[in-house]
Amino acid sequence: MTQDELKKQVAAAALQYLKNVPVIGMGTGSTVTHLINQLADCDFKHDIEAAVSSSIKTTEHLQSIGIKVLELNQSGDLEVYVDGADEVTPHRKMLKGGGGALTREKIIAGASKKFVCIVDESKCVDVMGKFPLPVEVLPLSRSFVARQLAKLGGTPELRMNKDSGQPYITDNGCEILDVYNLSIVDPVGMEQSINNIPGVITNGLFAMRDADVVLVGKGSEVITY
Ligand code: 5RP
Repeated sequence: MTQDELKKQVAAAALQYLKNVPVIGMGTGSTVTHLINQLADCDFKHDIEAAVSSSIKTTEHLQSIGIKVLELNQSGDLEVYVDGADEVTPHRKMLKGGGGALTREKIIAGASKKFVCIVDESKCVDVMGKFPLPVEVLPLSRSFVARQLAKLGGTPELRMNKDSGQPYITDNGCEILDVYNLSIVDPVGMEQSINNIPGVITNGLFAMRDADVVLVGKGSEVITY
């Protein structure tokens, strides 16, 4: 199976976690795109009263299949949040934000009782950091934060919008530094250290609030841990 087929497979396995949940939390990315497409055709779609979304892209997709989107301020805490990841460890720590939605993802994850992480098998790692770690920053703090990230051993690069050639701007009006060459042996410590740099909005380590369930699409089966 291709990577995209594995994403589709694991998305299908996540549907069961959304049954009988009135207000669902929805992440961002291509795996979640498959999940929303499958939700559009599933028999319990009309039982879902609303969703809380982690990005403008996901909001538009949910609305296009007829699911109402609420702000987190309106919904209160959520039962379930489903999202993908760029890397995930056997301890259910994740590196996220390849799609640029890390801040809203982390807020909704923090407000959810159960985080269901859905990945294809290529995302499973023992030590995170091969995938560059996204750090969302206030634009005016970009250079300062980059210097601090270099002191932590990383090589930060400003994320660019490939079409415009301008810096990539998040849904929150901020910029992203993608940090290469980090070997993240202490994900909780690294998450806290980066959060403590003034000007950082969020970093893509989901270690303090990790996943409760990880589903991995492997082709022959979907494993759960
Ligand atoms: C977006 C994310 C995504 O969950 C992550 O990048 C995985 O994306 P995909 O499902 O496309 O592989 O964190 O900010």
